[in-house]
Amino acid sequence: MTAATVPDITTLRIGVLCAGNSPERPGSLSNGEQAAKALTHAGLTTDLIDLADTPLSSLRNRFDVALLGVHGLGGEDGKIQGALEIRGIPYTGSGVLASALGMHKPTFKKLLVQAGIETPAWIVIDPKTSVESTLSAVRYSLGFPAFVKPSSGGGSLAAGIAHDEAQLRTMIEATKDDPYCEYMVEEYVQGIPCTVGLIEVEGHLVTLPVHDVESKNEFYDYEAKHDPDLRVEHCPSVLPDTLTQNLQMLARRAFDLLGAHGVLRVDFLASFHHRTTVLEVNTLPGLSERGSLATMARAGGIPYPDLMQHLVRTAFTKPGYLP
Ligand SMILES: Nc1ncnc2c1ncn2[C@@H]1O[C@H](COP(=O)(O)OP(=O)(O)O)[C@@H](O)[C@H]1O
Ligand SMILES: [Mg+2]
Repeated sequence: MTAATVPDITTLRIGVLCAGNSPERPGSLSNGEQAAKALTHAGLTTDLIDLADTPLSSLRNRFDVALLGVHGLGGEDGKIQGALEIRGIPYTGSGVLASALGMHKPTFKKLLVQAGIETPAWIVIDPKTSVESTLSAVRYSLGFPAFVKPSSGGGSLAAGIAHDEAQLRTMIEATKDDPYCEYMVEEYVQGIPCTVGLIEVEGHLVTLPVHDVESKNEFYDYEAKHDPDLRVEHCPSVLPDTLTQNLQMLARRAFDLLGAHGVLRVDFLASFHHRTTVLEVNTLPGLSERGSLATMARAGGIPYPDLMQHLVRTAFTKPGYLP
């Protein structure tokens, strides 16, 4: 990281890229608006761009740096990153390879296993395999309850618990013709949903305080993520220090393992009595002022407008070659 090469961002036009056609479009649009507003109030020049109605070919001379507020497929999976690289436009967050690896949960989980970091056991549902053989694989390798989710999803969309074989059969059948295409089944792990954010500040990677959530729903589902009445959040976490320190250490290891850049959020299920496991990584955490990244940053002494500016600067601290 070479902080010295970061230009004065007050002289730049910042394109806040958001929305597009991903399933996470609504949240992304609102996040982009909040980020653009905070940067504008801080005296910076911003341009809010909805990727659904803006062809990438028109972006080159519109702004100097892209603040990525996109999520999910087509946004967080390396494709936008590749398109921006080819056009020579600096952008925030990870490069193409880390974005793609981070988006595909089964692939990143293989890296975790190789590194000896706990993650729930899983199988990928192969659409060419019969429902019966998937059921028997889950019965013998994972057991019930089991957790079903898209391999490249986000926001708990299309995720759920299968308490028994009958429910799993229904869920597998429902995955057909789904835009997420590939689904996975994980062993069900009992634990408190926690997340840890990491952000580069002036050339140094800062590990933010742990954020934990008690969901009033059966798990931390889409509804609980969008309705504050359905969850109780703590940041800094109320979990014991030894546990939160372990989560922060694992988050840093996950950052290095992925080869992430600038920012990352690592999601866990944490428990003293059971196991602490890494669920997944988010290479473009939500930019919302009330979202978990901004909440962790505030708890770590970084106000929201500063967080957005630190993020913009990370576009200029990538190594010369980033796969
Ligand atoms: N294996 C699992 N066992 C139990 N709950 C899970 C499991 N995987 C995910 N969940 C629940 O679903 C939520 C979202 O899962 P996550 O893997 O982070 O996917 P997303 O990309 O949708 O955020 C978690 O916070 C947790 O509540
Ligand atoms: Mg998650």
